[in-house]
Amino acid sequence: MRNEASEAVVSSVRAQAQGPRHVAVIMDGNGRWAAARGLPRLEGHRRGVEALRRAVRAAGELGIGWLTVYSFSSENWRRPVQEVSDLMGLLKRFIRNDLADLHANGVRVRVIGQREGLSPDIRALLDEAEALTRDNLRMTLVVAFNYGARQEIAQAARALARKAAAGLIDPDSIDETSLDAHLDTAGMPEPDLIIRTSGEQRLSNFLLWQAAYSEFVFLDLHWPDFDRAALEQAVDVYRGRERRFGGVRANMASNPSAAAGASAEQTVMTGS
Ligand code: FPP
Repeated sequence: MRNEASEAVVSSVRAQAQGPRHVAVIMDGNGRWAAARGLPRLEGHRRGVEALRRAVRAAGELGIGWLTVYSFSSENWRRPVQEVSDLMGLLKRFIRNDLADLHANGVRVRVIGQREGLSPDIRALLDEAEALTRDNLRMTLVVAFNYGARQEIAQAARALARKAAAGLIDPDSIDETSLDAHLDTAGMPEPDLIIRTSGEQRLSNFLLWQAAYSEFVFLDLHWPDFDRAALEQAVDVYRGRERRFGGVRANMASNPSAAAGASAEQTVMTGS
């Protein structure tokens, strides 16, 4: 008879085989969650941190190897000074309170985004989180903090330009692989699934390069209400999708006549 522990192992192994391997999340709706309850926005963000804890736990249980969360965007500096300060405070508290637990659970922490512009104490905490957990293998939590995809791509272009100007590389050798290797996400798998909560349907400068072939799932709940069931729902939708990466349906590739009679959804697609 199978016990609960072995059920969990079976479900985790199945998840690893089916994917998604990398889930990225735009944690949206903290403010609306709070407003709907007559609470200050900070309370929405606090509950957002609790949802983040649930998401990390659930991702680990589901065998998801990489979880990237959009915690603070380059554009979030435009928010009122008090809210920016609250979000900085929550990040500090999250790392101080949760780092030991994440480490004990085999979670490796990586941080993407610009460190310049962050206060020295936050930079030190981010460095500490990465250093302490660098050899953990169970899953990687990627915290996108002070992150903007356009800034990331521009920074990679600058790094390549500097190398070319110094004669270290031939400008004609610059290609997708070399640009990719100069992004903050160098060495990470691309996100298979991007989830955005709160019903909004846009990327908001998140992983623009890496999302070229990601599947998107938009959930109608606000981030503070996110839980394992919501993650499972998004993963189920993902598993029902067919990913073609600009190619053709697997069963159409060697059977053009079948493709000719296919419905619009099944039509051979290029670049979709
Ligand atoms: C979007 O909700 C959320 C953010 C800008 C920040 C996400 C932050 C957390 C989940 C908590 C902090 C966690 C860490 C690790 C710092 P919103 O405020 O834009 O919601 P709204 O669109 O309803 O106003």
